[in-house]
Order: sequence, then C-alpha cells, then structure tokens
Amino acid sequence: MILLEHVKKTYLSNNNTVNALNDVNLKINKGDIFGIIGYSGAGKSTLIRCINLLETPTSGKVFINCTEITSLNEKQLRKYRQRIGMIFQHFNLMSSRNVFKNVAYPLKGKGLSKTQIEEKVLHLLEIVGLKDKATAYPSELSGGQKQRVSIARALANDPEVLLCDEATSALDPENTKSILNILKEINNSLNLTIVIITHQMEVVKDICNKVAIMENGEIVEEGSIVDIFSNPKTKITKDFIANTMHCDNVVQMLKENKFIKYPNKKYITTKISFIGQTTGQAFISRISMEYKVFASILFGSIEYLQGVPVGNLIVQFSGIDDKVFRAINYLRENNINVEVIEDDETDEFNNSKCSGTIS
Ligand SMILES: Nc1ncnc2c1ncn2[C@@H]1O[C@H](COP(=O)(O)OP(=O)(O)OP(=O)(O)O)[C@@H](O)[C@H]1O
Ligand SMILES: [Mg+2]
Repeated sequence: MILLEHVKKTYLSNNNTVNALNDVNLKINKGDIFGIIGYSGAGKSTLIRCINLLETPTSGKVFINCTEITSLNEKQLRKYRQRIGMIFQHFNLMSSRNVFKNVAYPLKGKGLSKTQIEEKVLHLLEIVGLKDKATAYPSELSGGQKQRVSIARALANDPEVLLCDEATSALDPENTKSILNILKEINNSLNLTIVIITHQMEVVKDICNKVAIMENGEIVEEGSIVDIFSNPKTKITKDFIANTMHCDNVVQMLKENKFIKYPNKKYITTKISFIGQTTGQAFISRISMEYKVFASILFGSIEYLQGVPVGNLIVQFSGIDDKVFRAINYLRENNINVEVIEDDETDEFNNSKCSGTIS
C-alpha cells in the first residue's frame, strides 16, 4: 500500500543543512497499523509528510497502492491526496465552524446533494461516537472529542490510508485509549491502512502490528510487534521497550543491589524471556523439581501482543552449582532465552558454563 524507496529529505535553513531523512526504505502493507517511533527530531513527521507529499522528498520515490506519486503533477497529486487522510496532534479544526461543518468540509465540490452530505457526515460522526455533538463548536469539546472530529473529517473522502502524527500526544490516558480503540475499529471495519507516528511505545504496543524505529533520519530497526518486543536489537529500541515492559528497570534495580540476596548460598539471577506456546508450560516448577533448584521470582509479566503471549521473568536460582547450570541449559534447550544478569562469584559462575544462546 505504501512503498518508500531511497527517500531523502534535506532542509536548508540559515545556511544550515539538515538531513531529516537519510535513504529511508519502507514497505507498509494494506491493512497494517504501522507504528513509527523515535525521539524528537528523528525525522518522523518529515517521513509521514513525505508519504502524502506535504513535503517533497529531495530524492527517492513514494508509491501509494502501486502508483508513484512522486511522479504526479500538481493537479493529479491534489486528487490523489484525497485517498490519504491525516490527523494531527493539535487537531487542526476550524474554530468558526461547528462539528458537522468541519466534517463536511472535505466533501465540498464533490457533486454530492445536501441529503447525501448529511447522511455521510452523520454516519462518520456515529463511527467516532459524536452524533450528539454535530452542532457543537470545537471550543465546546474536550481534546479527545476534538480528535474524534478530526478522525471523522479525515475519513470523509473514504481514504485508503490514514496518517496520524502524534494523534494522542495531547490527550490523557483515557482519551488516548478511546482514540486508539476508534483507530483499531476503523482499521478493522474499513480495512484502512494506518500509519501512526508516536514517541510512546505504549501506543505502538496497544494497536500496531508492525513498527519501525527511527534515529537521525534513518530507520534503524523494524519488524512485527512480537519480534521487536521479544528480541530488540538496537539500543534505542531496547530503551523504548524498557519504558513499557518494566523488566529492564528491575534489572537495573538488581544491579544497584535493591533486592535481598541469599547471603550464605550460591545464587544466580537470570532474565527469562519466552514467546507464545512456551508461556503455557510449567518450566519453572519442572526444573525446580527435577534439578532441585530453588527459584525465586523477583519480577514477572506476560503481555499479549497481537494476541501472542510474550513473557519476561526475573528469577533468582539457588542450589548446587551443577544443578543450576543444568537447569538453565534445560530451559535454553527448550527455546527459552535465559540471560544471566548476575551471580555471586562471577568468574567461577559465568555464562560459559551454561551453553546455548544468551538473549
Ligand atoms: N521546515 C523545516 N526546515 C528546516 N528544518 C526542519 C524543518 N522541518 C523539520 N526540520 C528538521 O528536520 C529534523 C527532523 O524533524 P521532524 O519534525 O521530522 O522530527 P520528529 O521526529 O517529527 O520530531 P518531534 O518528535 O519533535 O515531532 C529536525 O532536525 C528538524 O529540526
Ligand atoms: Mg514530529
């Protein structure tokens, strides 16, 4: 549905050159809810504005549904843009028009009768749950309600793609949830492809099926939500995930000695991660019984990402050396990632004794 090939965008301001996008390649499939996340200045807004050519790329090509829109003339582009809706952080509603007129605005000059426009607008307001606010003015609405109006307005031309630039950043958690639910519903019912720009991994985790992470004008990592959350590769992705999964915060606290240890026993602290089927299996109690190791769970979470359970545990094992090693190896042989965070005799009790991959 959306294809970016070698897209570059360079801004020139005050004799300075800013490479806002640096050779970005991106493929977004029909029906995706695709998240783009990155810190301020990473180039997210520039990227999304290059998808509907509100910004013209300095070089590279943009395709929407197999049409190269970077090769269209102004008139063709204006028409094509109607197939791409967009919503913004600050809603961009017209304050002098009521809700109905804001939503009806894009339908102007489309040859629709008054009744057709009325039917369409009321239907759109119903989708976003605001039918009773048709005659209200933007100043009479909450932030969440304003964003619903802007969603209804963006849907007026039956777009194939909806671009959302920080659409929930100005909203409280409750309104954020309700806007995300609306986006999820319209993605489902209209098979609309949605691109969401955000700096909140929580938003990505809640509704996206895929995500790209941007840094300094480049996409540094991308993939399905389950892959990215269960096996992040770059530091920036790990940092974003740590903010939502909490597990790494616990690891940090452990490193700062904020947990009680077993002073007179050998112990080894591990971070155990698993995906899907594995979560339903009783691995911890099995190794505890079979290898006679004590397992103390310091932290645990199982998140459902796109319906797939992704688990993270911080477990402190204690017992006889060899048995702890064998227990850890047993977990790894069963495709569970075990990372040794800390042990009480690092040299003797190190990872090399435990074969297999470390996550
Ligand atoms: N019109 C412009 N003229 C000059 N530089 C610009 C312009 N627009 C963006 N930039 C620069 O391009 C870079 C990327 O900006 P962009 O707005 O795409 O970042 P962003 O990831 O959306 O950040 P934020 O999270 O703060 O919205 C920044 O260094 C910014 O200063
Ligand atoms: Mg931005």
